[in-house]
Amino acid sequence: MPEGVTVVQHPLVQHKLTWMRAKETPSPLFRSLLKEIALLLAYEVTRDLKLTDMTIETPLQPMQSPVIDGKKFCLISILRAGNGLLEGMMDLVPNAPVGHIGLYRDHETLEAIEYYFKVPGNLEERLTIVVDPMLATGHTAVAAITRLKQAGAKNLRFVCLLTVPEGIKVLREAHPDVPIFTAAIDERLNEKGYILPGLGDAGDRIYGTK
Ligand code: URA
Repeated sequence: MPEGVTVVQHPLVQHKLTWMRAKETPSPLFRSLLKEIALLLAYEVTRDLKLTDMTIETPLQPMQSPVIDGKKFCLISILRAGNGLLEGMMDLVPNAPVGHIGLYRDHETLEAIEYYFKVPGNLEERLTIVVDPMLATGHTAVAAITRLKQAGAKNLRFVCLLTVPEGIKVLREAHPDVPIFTAAIDERLNEKGYILPGLGDAGDRIYGTK
């Protein structure tokens, strides 16, 4: 396993991913599978979140009981496919504030151009979980994380559904402090930057565009 990468190999994740890959799976089923996998990935990426005790009363007596401090982390979706992954995560951590980053690639310069950026305040105090289903060339993820660091984020994690060794290398070299969580590491990129065997264009499959 490459350093800094966690592959979530739970049978439920792998089973659902297989059906997401299958080309005949229609968008409504693709979206629900993505949401279910997102929930399971969120479970893994939040495994070591800090807990603080609060006082509650059970029907029998008062007690100190642990809760996650929702102010201490946030979710950031890289538009547009990130929103598919975001949904399941929001179900699991409904109090987490959510940010969005929109980037497109200039076809001539290949530079990532930002067209949207709205993120929660006090990023420096939060664990910042960035989500995008496909970590392919890695350029968008690198640009998004660089921008989040400029905005103050210091403690980041990246969650995707699929990646390839090329994408992992690019992201880990640019941001070695950012651990990656994924459901699978596929073989390689094709000449158009698509993951092989992959699942096609995640945004198109989520939203039924083509
Ligand atoms: N983005 C996608 O949606 N699919 C890929 O295979 C690569 C990048």
